[in-house]
Amino acid sequence: MRIDIITVLPELLKSPFEASILKRAIEKGLVEVHFHNLRDYSTGNYKQVDDYQFGGGAGMVLMVEPIDRCITGLKEEREYDEIIYMTPDGSTLNQAVSNEISLKKNIIILCGHYKGVDQRVRDMFITREISIGDYVLSGGELAAAVFCDAVIRLLPGVLNDETSALTDTFQDNLLAPPVYTRPSNYKGTTVPEVLLSGDFPKIEKWREEKALERTEKLRPDLLN
Ligand code: ADE
Repeated sequence: MRIDIITVLPELLKSPFEASILKRAIEKGLVEVHFHNLRDYSTGNYKQVDDYQFGGGAGMVLMVEPIDRCITGLKEEREYDEIIYMTPDGSTLNQAVSNEISLKKNIIILCGHYKGVDQRVRDMFITREISIGDYVLSGGELAAAVFCDAVIRLLPGVLNDETSALTDTFQDNLLAPPVYTRPSNYKGTTVPEVLLSGDFPKIEKWREEKALERTEKLRPDLLN
């Protein structure tokens, strides 16, 4: 998979890709991530990328021209499956969307800033608009990092144990069951007996029951 990220603040976005699972995925060649600083696509002496909005009102708007230049240049190099705009008024990210996007080959992610982008960018280029939740961040960069993490960890070979993404919370619309590790007795609190039994069908059944129980208690909305 190849991800091209367009941003006015690449430095805000880079560190999550330089540590841990995302770093390893890049080193293993399972994903390529390219950052494009929007300022590099602006013309003129001031490298302007934003301007006041027509009609008045507070807040700057990212201009169509540099974004057009950047996206059009990328599209000349290869075909993109999705051009995604991170925005609080997009559709809310969930595991199903992450799964779907993880199957794509090439995607572009555009990070909004200030009051957002000129509407014509959305009309001309964007195939999907994604929000990471009903709250407003100061830009799309942190949202893009969250989204990339959710997608990249699903790519085959990224997680050590190939099956472990399959048992994540939300994968089957259920919260994950509780997990335990050594010691089996810690200050008198013990691990459920069944997990020590070695009886795998029984363990599986227990996990399914606990997942359902937890979901009913904490997130009943997932069961509807
Ligand atoms: N940009 C600002 N807030 C955002 C959010 N909640 N999700 C995605 N992009 C954003």
